[in-house]
Amino acid sequence: MTGAQPLPALHALAGRFPTGFVWGTATAAYQIEGAWNEDGKGESIWDVFCRIPGVIEDGRSGAETCDHYHLLDDDLDLLADLGASAYRFSVAWSRVLPEGRGRINEPGFAFYERLVDGLLQRGIRPFVTLYHWDLPQALQERGGWLADDIPAWFADYASLVVARLGDRVRDWVTLNEPQVTAFAGYQSGVHPPGVKDTASALIVAHHLLLAHRAGAAAIRAASSEARVGIALNLSPAHPASASAEDGEAARMADGAGNRWFLDPLFGRGYPQDVVERYGEVAPPPLEGYDGALDFLGINYYTRNIVRAAPGTKLGFEPLPPEGALTEMGWEIYPDGLREILLRVHRDYAPRELFITESGAAFPDGPDGDDPARVEYLESHFSAAADAIDDGVRLRGYFVWSLLDNFEWHLGFTKRFGLVYVDYETKQRTIKSSGRFYRQLATAGR
Ligand code: FCB
Repeated sequence: MTGAQPLPALHALAGRFPTGFVWGTATAAYQIEGAWNEDGKGESIWDVFCRIPGVIEDGRSGAETCDHYHLLDDDLDLLADLGASAYRFSVAWSRVLPEGRGRINEPGFAFYERLVDGLLQRGIRPFVTLYHWDLPQALQERGGWLADDIPAWFADYASLVVARLGDRVRDWVTLNEPQVTAFAGYQSGVHPPGVKDTASALIVAHHLLLAHRAGAAAIRAASSEARVGIALNLSPAHPASASAEDGEAARMADGAGNRWFLDPLFGRGYPQDVVERYGEVAPPPLEGYDGALDFLGINYYTRNIVRAAPGTKLGFEPLPPEGALTEMGWEIYPDGLREILLRVHRDYAPRELFITESGAAFPDGPDGDDPARVEYLESHFSAAADAIDDGVRLRGYFVWSLLDNFEWHLGFTKRFGLVYVDYETKQRTIKSSGRFYRQLATAGR
């Protein structure tokens, strides 16, 4: 396959999506912008973390990465060229508020205004993520996500951004993958601030939920038109065998990974079965809490297979993935996308759903020939269409990612883009998957 899919098949797939379906791609500020210290930007926790020897696989950082900050107009043209009708990007908190609160950095806002205006001029709908992992370092020094004040800091930041952009942006994502912020940052420690302590991770997760609620209220107060969502990383948890023990392990994996955030956001408090397992490290209850979501965003990459592990806190452990894998070592499992969409629709009935991220890393070369990603997209878009046929209110799909970019602690070792980036010259080359996406999105629109 070269990305030149037989046209009838491609049109048949595109035809399965309703009129008005949102054809998007997604990125995040730290992964693509570069210009880490330009025009008054403050440091983020990633700027600082990447300097620690050994924490980033290739020893590099997002200081320059794709240089999207300077190549903004070219990247906007690329998006238009790809036929996208929407673009999900994130605001770097420390670009607009270098100390995280207080002093405003006007050039930072000017950049995002240019970005939003450029999208609208090209007929592309902006979806803005307020927090995609790059906390201002100044706030980290005040306790970061462990600080009791952080919901208020986040709400102040949100209201400022919405006051600036809310006349042109309707769709807001408060937080990207709070599960990762909490557990990669504070339990496995592979993300900043590199802490390894489950009790801390649970406090951070709690503060993230409170920040979401405070942020959502601030967004709505600043713009009556605003629609508020959150992006959760969700994966089906499947048992390794038909045994009752493995079944229970899968229930706990689902509880800790998926229900831990879904239940509170839909007004049910923390899942009691998982709270009991956490025991003395469990956070305080979230009574009366509701995420008040206009839409739920799901980031989907793979499923997890788990088995019983009686000696562990939560009683389960993951099995190594099998079958066809992406370069991340993640199983390629499109059925899991349909499964998670149906399950969330059935169990939580969100008003609207978006796939706010889905995509795959493969070892692409500069020729941009990536048949495996074409196949990945084709099978996952099909799974999304199946879910729509089943009655799921799925309104859009954002492919991760527009560009190859800085993949967090894995540095530049993984490429997820529809567009290849040469990190030396910053040159962009549309891959076969980008051409496939263009055909699909164009036919779908
Ligand atoms: C998600 C992140 C995104 C990207 C993809 C591969 O967890 O939200 O920034 O790194 O994984």
